[in-house]
Amino acid sequence: MSTHHTREFERTEETMQKTNDDNRKKHDVKHIKFKNQDEYGAFSHPLWSQDDFNNVKFTHQIPNIFVDRLAYFTSWVIRWFNNIISGWLFGRMWGWFVFDEYLWLIRLCLYESFASMGNMFALSRHISSILFLRRDYGWTEPLLLESYNKQMHLLLLLQLLKPSLLFRCLFVLKLCIGAIFSFFSYFINRRYCHRLAAYMEESGVILYSELLEDIDKKKLPLFDQDAMEIAKSYYQLPSGTKWRDVFANMRCDEAFHRDNNHLLAPLSVKPQSKNPIHNDRYPSY
Ligand SMILES: [Fe+2]
Repeated sequence: MSTHHTREFERTEETMQKTNDDNRKKHDVKHIKFKNQDEYGAFSHPLWSQDDFNNVKFTHQIPNIFVDRLAYFTSWVIRWFNNIISGWLFGRMWGWFVFDEYLWLIRLCLYESFASMGNMFALSRHISSILFLRRDYGWTEPLLLESYNKQMHLLLLLQLLKPSLLFRCLFVLKLCIGAIFSFFSYFINRRYCHRLAAYMEESGVILYSELLEDIDKKKLPLFDQDAMEIAKSYYQLPSGTKWRDVFANMRCDEAFHRDNNHLLAPLSVKPQSKNPIHNDRYPSY
């Protein structure tokens, strides 16, 4: 083992702590507060302020190379598949029936059922790291954090939807298909995968905005009720919080991950590129 590596392993916990503190000071992370692990062992994640809720931007990166166009096309197919299955096309766009809270939850759950993607990206990276005997340069942790956040979205929505066992099995099937697809496509083209996630999240921001708009127009009275304890505990929201506030938090999460994945897409193809989000947006904690 080289002297450099020996020295690296000899770093004491105290030194590590100092490095983490220095990193926090060096990078501008004041705009994002992080919650600590709660009693359920949840990962840390950003806490959003009223300013964040009001300033969610609708952005779209125009795909200009083949891989990006393919990722955009895939996200378009998934989006429209979900829109048809959930009844959005027939109920909401064509007005054949009322698109109520139940159908909204189906639409949201279908969208969130690609929650397994980040885990699979992280697993692919871990395998590559072992295979080529090189470090992962800080990519795994943010990918797992993002994936955990998506899982929480899906869990909260399913808690609200209360689906039958058969329905839950169908969601698990969709998760598995997404997981297998993500795992293998990450080996083939990493840029495609991050772009696909980003384009899905672009549509997620629109989807949650449409939902908030419907709630504000009093079309969905169920979502004007108090949120469940699990949602309040995850987002550290006070008692009396309505589901609308939880959805507003979810929309901020989507926008955050959309920007992250667009940032990661071109970097992911370089084998030794460091993940900038690890230091900049997600400080060591
Ligand atoms: Fe989500």
